[in-house]
Amino acid sequence: MKILYISSSVRSEQSLTNKLANEFIAKLQTRFPESVVVSRDLGDHPVKGPDLQWTQSNTIPDLDKSSHDWDVLAQSDALIEEIVSADRVVISAPMYNFSVPWTLKCYIDNIVRNERTFTIDPVEGFKPKLSADKKLVLITSSAGSYESGTPMEAYDFCTPYIRSVFGFMGLTDFHAVSAVNQWASEEMRNEAINEAHDALEALSVSW
Ligand SMILES: Cc1cc2nc3c(=O)[nH]c(=O)nc-3n(C[C@H](O)[C@H](O)[C@H](O)COP(=O)(O)O)c2cc1C
Repeated sequence: MKILYISSSVRSEQSLTNKLANEFIAKLQTRFPESVVVSRDLGDHPVKGPDLQWTQSNTIPDLDKSSHDWDVLAQSDALIEEIVSADRVVISAPMYNFSVPWTLKCYIDNIVRNERTFTIDPVEGFKPKLSADKKLVLITSSAGSYESGTPMEAYDFCTPYIRSVFGFMGLTDFHAVSAVNQWASEEMRNEAINEAHDALEALSVSW
């Protein structure tokens, strides 16, 4: 089994989302000793986002692509190959300004590609191309709380976005675990971390 771990906090070793994800993956590795983990650390090693040349090379049919076009798209192709060959995907992403870190958005801009991870049927519209057998877990954290039913719910463009964009490519088996309230009182902060721990502990035996 191959686990792709994508991290995106800029806080590296100090990151709560990285810590929670590393603990979760360690538990998975105990459960599945044969598993292989491939780490894509976007916080420390961001990938380049698409530019004009990228968009042009991407729209040229494969048979007509020049070696330059293939070079321009090489990073994107490698990132897509990484997720295509993964059985499970773990994403750690703190909320930044109600959304995901820019490094994760650049990554997503590289992998959401027509004819690679989705297709467009002239009549039926968008269709996913990634296998629905893949499982996805998002581990997130935020200063505040964005619980459903609260006025802040509408500000959460992190979890709904990841669920939608990966679901668009076919990864509909989705779980999210969040350590909220990290800028609240120590008691609330710790309570949220403990809840996230418990949720991940339970998921590590059932996922
Ligand atoms: C640039 C930046 C923007 C942030 N924006 C938000 C935000 O919009 N809403 C929120 O609740 N917390 C926000 N936070 C707080 C982080 O989501 C929170 O501290 C989280 O626990 C950090 O996770 P990490 O330790 O994995 O980096 C922001 C933090 C940073 C550094």
